[in-house]
Amino acid sequence: MKRLAVLTSGGDCPGLNACLRAVIRRALLANREVLGIRRGFKGLMDGKIIPLDYKSTSGIINRGGTFLLSARSEEFHRPSGRKKAVHTLKRHRIDGLIVIGGNGSLRGAWELSKETDTAIIGVPKSIDNDIGGSDYSIGFDTAVNTAVEAIDKIRDTATSHEQLFLVEVMGRTRGFLALAAGVAGGAEEVLIPETPTNIPKLCKKLEEGRKKGKRSTIIVVAEGDEAGGAFEIAKKIQRKTNYQIRVSILGHQQRGGSPTAFDRILASQLGVGAVEALLKGARNKVIGRVNGKLILSSLDIAWKKAPKLDQNLVRLAEILS
Ligand code: F6P
Repeated sequence: MKRLAVLTSGGDCPGLNACLRAVIRRALLANREVLGIRRGFKGLMDGKIIPLDYKSTSGIINRGGTFLLSARSEEFHRPSGRKKAVHTLKRHRIDGLIVIGGNGSLRGAWELSKETDTAIIGVPKSIDNDIGGSDYSIGFDTAVNTAVEAIDKIRDTATSHEQLFLVEVMGRTRGFLALAAGVAGGAEEVLIPETPTNIPKLCKKLEEGRKKGKRSTIIVVAEGDEAGGAFEIAKKIQRKTNYQIRVSILGHQQRGGSPTAFDRILASQLGVGAVEALLKGARNKVIGRVNGKLILSSLDIAWKKAPKLDQNLVRLAEILS
């Protein structure tokens, strides 16, 4: 394991730079050469490789985004695309590859692992927190905090104008981000794909809240909710109530910003853990933190075994709504 390489792939999130810093510093400490692949798998196919040194890691732990750049690549999911990637790995004599990615990218890494001798370690990152093998993925905590900060501000205006706000958060097909942001933001309702959304029942509850003297209401909507996005749900509620409804889509701000301390620590632990795993001879695994401990699972767990939603948190959201 002489020469390592690292890449960030898929949608960016806060904490990627902190993870890169940890990977590079740990590899250098072990006197290993470490290369950076720019623009994720796209760069791996195109041979966009740069040498990394200690200097590349200074002043980046607090920075959002990824200094290696990221991309989503359809081509990589085809055998012809991966053939190019295998060629780059061979040409640069890369013994170990660290893929910092979401479940799509880690699936790509797993496909690649069957076609190359290079050992691969996946590191889970996603504001969606939908990756198997780890309780948390890098970026989730920061995105939750960003959403909560926005919800707090929206509540001020919602209260002043006695309005009903639907705040749509990201999360793709899962409700982790919506649930955490909704509970922490004191939302009256949290609509997530994992639980059925019943509009008539919801409207009845809203009316009951109004009778009890509620002046403003915040409903957090996961973008993947089966009843539709926030605009669609707003229309459905409007047909049944006379609320003044406003919609706020938080969007990509949830992917940016300086990572929280939680994300910086997680990113540092997983980055160091990934390098140490390679040095110990691990191959084709995903590294995660489960119940506070670093663990390695088979790489396919990352996308095959989607984590379950915390039912206690679902209950909490219902009780406190
Ligand atoms: O997976 C991260 C994520 O931000 C999802 O929450 C969202 O659905 C998606 O990426 C948006 O992707 P894009 O920026 O490519 O539209």
